Amino acid sequence: MSTTLVQIQVEEKRFRAHQVIDRLALDIRAGEIVSLVGPSGCGKSTLLRIVAGLETDYAGRVLIKGAKPQLHSPEVGFIFQEPRLLPWLSVADNVGFEAGRGGGKHPRVGELLAEVGLAAFADAWPKQLSGGMAQRAAIARGLFTQPALLLLDEPFSAVDAFTRMRLQDLLLSIAAHHGTTLLLVTHDVDEAVYLSDRVVVMNSGPGRIAGDVVVPLPRPRDRRDPALGRARSEVLTLLNGAQQDYHDIAPDIAAAPPAAAPIDWSKLSFAV
Ligand SMILES: Nc1ncnc2c1ncn2[C@@H]1O[C@H](COP(=O)(O)OP(=O)(O)O)[C@@H](O)[C@H]1O
Ligand SMILES: [Mg+2]
Repeated sequence: MSTTLVQIQVEEKRFRAHQVIDRLALDIRAGEIVSLVGPSGCGKSTLLRIVAGLETDYAGRVLIKGAKPQLHSPEVGFIFQEPRLLPWLSVADNVGFEAGRGGGKHPRVGELLAEVGLAAFADAWPKQLSGGMAQRAAIARGLFTQPALLLLDEPFSAVDAFTRMRLQDLLLSIAAHHGTTLLLVTHDVDEAVYLSDRVVVMNSGPGRIAGDVVVPLPRPRDRRDPALGRARSEVLTLLNGAQQDYHDIAPDIAAAPPAAAPIDWSKLSFAV
């Protein structure tokens, strides 16, 4: 039995009058890969920011290895949807940014760049990289401090489908190699089930956990495996339920726009 790495208990998170998260509890085991999916605005990014220590104004308790999250903790890496590389630093200096000035010369930078297939681009500028390459550099940067936990907020949303699949496999091999625990937000249900040991579905208004789906398949996985399709259906069922709850709570907001009234052609006149 592996140990619990992250304990999340958010009683309530508000932005002024707006309650974003309500009584959300989630434990993540060391080495586990967990995806968070849910409707836009249900608080996924806010939850990641709480776990990263970027957001501290909430009721509840989050523990990573038994301690409160600290900003810039080496234990936690964060990868965003955009690579967020600093344009005035070389790729290597971006990856070794946490080591301070000249961080690109740190021996771990070369190892990480090789691991993400960018060994030849250490001295390149970020603008010389394609979108997928830049995101690989961001993954290397996220791993530089050898974090136990990597948080990823829709990390592959901005790249094409083929690059996305390659980045997913790269992420899996890196997580296995370093023993990194992953907590990943995605709006892509296929991505969630392919990558994860467990997919956690959130609902909105305010954000809570609607349920989770365990994906007990060994890796490497075959993307065509029918078991992945079944997990996908379970996630979609939970998501539909989450959507339904939203209708119950905010029927005026969630209601579909009224169907267009049939056009009465006899009442129309056309200027010619
Ligand atoms: N800094 C902020 N100030 C005020 N409202 C915010 C802030 N950040 C997020 N929100 C609101 O909180 C809700 C959840 O946002 P977010 O966590 O980004 O959702 P998700 O990532 O699930 O789409 C949204 O309604 C959003 O508008
Ligand atoms: Mg978000």
